[in-house]
Amino acid sequence: MPLLLGVNIDHVATLRQARYARTPECPNAEPSPLVAAHDSLAAGADSITLHVRGDRRHMQDADAFAIRSGVPIPLNLEMGVTGEMVDLALKLRPQYCCLVPESREELTTEGGLDVLGGFERIRAAVERLHAVGIQVSLFIDPELGQVQAAAESGAGMIELHTGCFANASGAEVETELKRLIDAAVAGHAAGLQVNAGHGINYENLTRLWVVPHLAELNIGHSIVSKAMRVGMAAAVREMKDLMATYPG
Ligand code: PXP
Repeated sequence: MPLLLGVNIDHVATLRQARYARTPECPNAEPSPLVAAHDSLAAGADSITLHVRGDRRHMQDADAFAIRSGVPIPLNLEMGVTGEMVDLALKLRPQYCCLVPESREELTTEGGLDVLGGFERIRAAVERLHAVGIQVSLFIDPELGQVQAAAESGAGMIELHTGCFANASGAEVETELKRLIDAAVAGHAAGLQVNAGHGINYENLTRLWVVPHLAELNIGHSIVSKAMRVGMAAAVREMKDLMATYPG
């Protein structure tokens, strides 16, 4: 199975909000997440990921609805485990939801979801989303207890947090890769689809090739950054070409 690419376009909206925070729907508001989604699809992206945060700092609800109805590509809504976000997902009906922890002060999603600690709340959210046919992924740190709890929650997928791997240097890199390998093996054995994301870029990507069972990578910041130089389509195509070398 080829490794799939979910392109996270949150930071297209970050740039727009820098100028148009009060009027994101203004006809001149640019750059446009909708255009970025179309360009990503044309360049071979397998899905589009966007995170509607509680504070709406980048993606707005209107972006999610415009992309859901206007771009024929699976949509992955990243969301905190709140009643507000579950209600939004039930209206939006994306193909996938990825449940993430969210705190107002963080610059980006900082750690994995504590599925063990918030088990009942997470299980209930998974159930509500599954009831309308949305597939659910849990964004977790590569820890065996979290993998086990994710499987018990009923979610069909996990997204392993690769942030520690991406920030590691020297011998730490091997340690982080070992954690990812063990979590991927455990997730696969538990019948979960194993995805990964956070901090993956054009340089560190292929170091992940020692991790087995990966189905999809969600990559945002590095693709949007490269798009500043080469355009969105070329940035997505380059990442897809690199991903084609995953040994499986
Ligand atoms: N996966 C999840 C769950 C995330 O929260 C993020 C960041 O929004 C990503 C993947 C993408 O991370 P990055 O922008 O570092 O590629």
